[in-house]
Amino acid sequence: MTAEGRSTVAGATTDGGQPLISVRDLQRVYTMPRTSLRRPPTRVTALRGVSFDVRKGQRFGIVGESGSGKSTLLRLLCALDQPTAGSIRFAGLQITGRKERELRFLRKELQIVFQDPMGSLNPRMRVRDIICEPLVAQRQPDRQERLDELLAVVGLPSDAAARFPHQFSGGQRQRIAIARALAPRPSVLVADEPVSALDVSVQAQILNLLADLVERFGITLVFVSHDLSVVRHVCDTVAVLHEGQIVETGPTERIHTAPQHPYTRRLIAAVPTLERALAGIGAAELAHDVSSAEEP
Ligand SMILES: Nc1ncnc2c1ncn2[C@@H]1O[C@H](COP(=O)(O)OP(=O)(O)O)[C@@H](O)[C@H]1O
Ligand SMILES: [Mg+2]
Repeated sequence: MTAEGRSTVAGATTDGGQPLISVRDLQRVYTMPRTSLRRPPTRVTALRGVSFDVRKGQRFGIVGESGSGKSTLLRLLCALDQPTAGSIRFAGLQITGRKERELRFLRKELQIVFQDPMGSLNPRMRVRDIICEPLVAQRQPDRQERLDELLAVVGLPSDAAARFPHQFSGGQRQRIAIARALAPRPSVLVADEPVSALDVSVQAQILNLLADLVERFGITLVFVSHDLSVVRHVCDTVAVLHEGQIVETGPTERIHTAPQHPYTRRLIAAVPTLERALAGIGAAELAHDVSSAEEP
């Protein structure tokens, strides 16, 4: 790639080093099943040429409204789905078009936290087994020690290990999901709207936890949200996704204070709920949320 080409890529490296994740001209077209033999199949273009770089240690946010293609993009990044066109490199290695057994390194290096912890945690498994599942898969010894360490790191009591997901509040369930994601010591954490299903007060706690953990363990974060105030809280860089295209990218503070694209301005005008909570405005309302959320 030429120097000029590189400068047009969102979040491109400035230090000359190789980016950890490199996405180029990514497209994903979904073909829906035919409803009639006489009609052509309907196609939905979820991503239309997305390019960006993520550097090691960066906290990269992707913001856009519902349907803009955020989850599609993350599924491709995690190699859970294949693009229609374009490429993704992880640490210089092309991950698109690979067989599952060639992706074993990625299954350890890159972990995911989803929006709905209830849906992503097996309700019939004890917390101990949920968190240790990736360690069992990798045949790691000393699992008990690692389990205790992980529970402490995400702020859960050690007796949580023997309980089931339904015995916890939404925020605590997300702590379990984060512990499981951290278990194999990934270099990248990918989060798809990890606080969108939580009460506003609990959102701030989980965001603070995520920000602390990625900093403490030197993890690179790719974080998706429809809410720019949420992204602003944890990310240093943000890409704005609109109808499957990145319309604007840059340092989070710059995007927030001086948005260039009309779509970004519209996003900022949307009610910044988290910001209100963090500023302590509407404290009575917040106190109610805290008590009802049963967070420790
Ligand atoms: N499995 C799928 N099959 C067909 N269309 C899909 C599928 N997943 C997503 N889409 C469509 O792709 C677009 C982007 O969806 P998605 O990536 O889920 O956006 P977001 O996460 O930003 O809400 C939407 O129009 C959605 O309906
Ligand atoms: Mg989504």
